[in-house]
Amino acid sequence: MVELKGLPGFRDFYPEELAARSYLMGVWRDVARRYGFEEYDGPPLEALELYTRKSGEEIVQQLYEFEDKGGRRVALRPEMTPSLARMVGVRAAALRKPVRWFSTPQLFRYERKQRGRLREHFQLNLDILGEEDVLADADLLAAAIDIMRATGLDSTQVRARVSDRRVLAAIFLHIGVPETKLESVYEVVDKLDREPRDRLEARLAELGLEPDAIAGVFDATELRGIEELRARFGDVPSVAERVAELATYLEHLENLGVVEFVDVDLSVVRGLAYYTGIVFELWDAGRKLRAICGGGRYDDLLGLIAGIDMPAIGFGMGDVVLTELLRDHGLLPEPGRALDCFVCWLGADGRRQALRAARAIRALGLSAIFEFRDRRLGNQLKSADQLGARRAVIVGPQEIEASQARIRDMSTGEERVVPFDELGPTLAAELGDG
Ligand code: HAM
Repeated sequence: MVELKGLPGFRDFYPEELAARSYLMGVWRDVARRYGFEEYDGPPLEALELYTRKSGEEIVQQLYEFEDKGGRRVALRPEMTPSLARMVGVRAAALRKPVRWFSTPQLFRYERKQRGRLREHFQLNLDILGEEDVLADADLLAAAIDIMRATGLDSTQVRARVSDRRVLAAIFLHIGVPETKLESVYEVVDKLDREPRDRLEARLAELGLEPDAIAGVFDATELRGIEELRARFGDVPSVAERVAELATYLEHLENLGVVEFVDVDLSVVRGLAYYTGIVFELWDAGRKLRAICGGGRYDDLLGLIAGIDMPAIGFGMGDVVLTELLRDHGLLPEPGRALDCFVCWLGADGRRQALRAARAIRALGLSAIFEFRDRRLGNQLKSADQLGARRAVIVGPQEIEASQARIRDMSTGEERVVPFDELGPTLAAELGDG
């Protein structure tokens, strides 16, 4: 026998789990459509080099990579953004800007297994390319927050933590962090929640930061809210200029009706190396789970991957954490009664008639199944009940004799008889969606 459990970190989607996944995909698609995004997809396998360029250390360590039979170094996609940059790069001149695209790929990362982190997940990606105005950043976050609302989550249950790498850069440069060290400092800040402070201080010291600058980095990450930022750095023009843009972003979020979800929190920098501006993450309010969603501005990635100058923003929202959160709050819908009709038959004549009935019902777009073997009517009705059928259709000897079919409403038990050729239209009128 083979190992029945499957690989660690990979999921089997039994029907009830697939129902939850399909529900979420439906919400994602619906909100993406409302915000005017078009769907695309790319290949699950890409050249390794696509990720080693700019995704950053952490994700590269987690790659499922190998050499294919043609000797190419390839990797299963760990994220969608590099594929998107590549695809947009190919058609950049022809595409109408701004490009608003979404996708729901399955992604693969060799992660240490922990709650909310698996080795595969589905991730909604919403990206806007070719627009540098901060209003696009605001519209993107509004879409992420509207997805929360569409599932029934409110601002007491989910928080959006927003920050801006340009604000952080201006502060860090002001307190004496050398420009060449900025990226390494972001990497350290990204680990604030996960590693002890003294280890992070040591890392900053290794980068050559003076003790004052190290303290300044930690102080900056403790800033919350635009007022605190203004009070602390309002008189430093290079910082104030960036803070003003962040304030405009918040004003747009207010007008888009989502600001109640938003906290300015400078400890957020995001782990991926390509972010250049406003960044954000959605979290469960108690921060008991991992991030639900993360994204931001990455204005240089298309240059690095496709050699073109095109600003871009986007986010990725995984299915794992969000599904857990919805389950915790009792917000996953009950799978509905999926079966319309169970056709019961008795004897060979009944079977012939049952198959014709099923054929007519299916042709009308309703679902119908029947027993494969001759069984007692009582047992057939029991199966119909267990399967959640809305109606049972019965064709036994008496019904055949009279060219009729009996319809039983499975929720009330009421029965009536209709002429055989009216069966389909009758069921369609009762069960069809209008
Ligand atoms: P990310 O922060 O690596 O960003 O992933 C985004 C989200 O995907 C996370 O917040 C989480 O919900 C989910 N996720 C990531 N890794 C796992 C995992 N191992 N298991 C379960 N869920 C996971 C990106 O991937 C960026 N490419 C997003 C982006 C799009 N930025 C711009 N456009």
